[in-house]
Amino acid sequence: MEEWLKQVEKNIDSLVEHNADWTAGATSEQLQEARNGQLKLKFFDKDVPAEWLSDIKGKKVLCLAGAGGLQAPLLACAGADVTVLDLSDKMLEKDRRIAKTGNLPIRIEKGNMCDLSRFGDCSFDYILNPPSLMYVPDIRPVFKECHRVLKNGGTFIMMAPNPINYVCDFVNDETGGYYKAVNRMPYCSADHDPESDWIEYGHTMEEYIGGQIDCGFLMNGYIECQLEDITELHFMTRAVKNE
Ligand SMILES: C[S@@+](CC[C@H](N)C(=O)[O-])C[C@H]1O[C@@H](n2cnc3c(N)ncnc32)[C@H](O)[C@@H]1O
Repeated sequence: MEEWLKQVEKNIDSLVEHNADWTAGATSEQLQEARNGQLKLKFFDKDVPAEWLSDIKGKKVLCLAGAGGLQAPLLACAGADVTVLDLSDKMLEKDRRIAKTGNLPIRIEKGNMCDLSRFGDCSFDYILNPPSLMYVPDIRPVFKECHRVLKNGGTFIMMAPNPINYVCDFVNDETGGYYKAVNRMPYCSADHDPESDWIEYGHTMEEYIGGQIDCGFLMNGYIECQLEDITELHFMTRAVKNE
């Protein structure tokens, strides 16, 4: 396994041990709502639009880099046939636990999202990819593989941080501080803090949007969320495999 991948796995496992907020898993109320036909998949302060998932029942869904006991169990409760693939055993353990207690038939796979060779061509109707591409140095292989394993007409939903998250650094001063645009894109955390074990990559919008289009995806949905910290801007795209 490549060094960066081993380090990302360690970093994520450590965040799970420290209960990062995105490791919380679905509550029994959320699971029940999904069973009752009210599937809600959070995207920061918004939800994935209900109409994007309105026909999810019975569909084959790959939750890509989407462990943590949240999206996969909710999708399974909504009647989807779910596979979750993730790098982190500790994140996958959360899905395993909820699947067991809720008797949910979720396929749980440990692996790297850059290599989906375990799945055949045209295997899935949907791929849902929660924020995770910032842990991968090159996102093109991920998009190429997603395009291959989706059925024709299949839907790819991905979430990621806008590059502004990486362009700006916080500057402390007597007025309380401000953000300054200082970093050129693409960005790699190791270039800025070689002492840190944290690895994160800031990709350009050209890589995110142009990269999907280059693989043959047709984009038909785009949503943004800006959090209280104004550089915390995230986006979600919906694209269709069009052949
Ligand atoms: C911020 S979490 C997102 C999952 C979460 N369910 C959510 O609600 O946002 C990022 C996930 O990406 C996974 N991940 C990071 N790099 C990966 C890779 N190369 N292959 C597969 N999974 C990866 C991590 O293990 C982690 O579970």
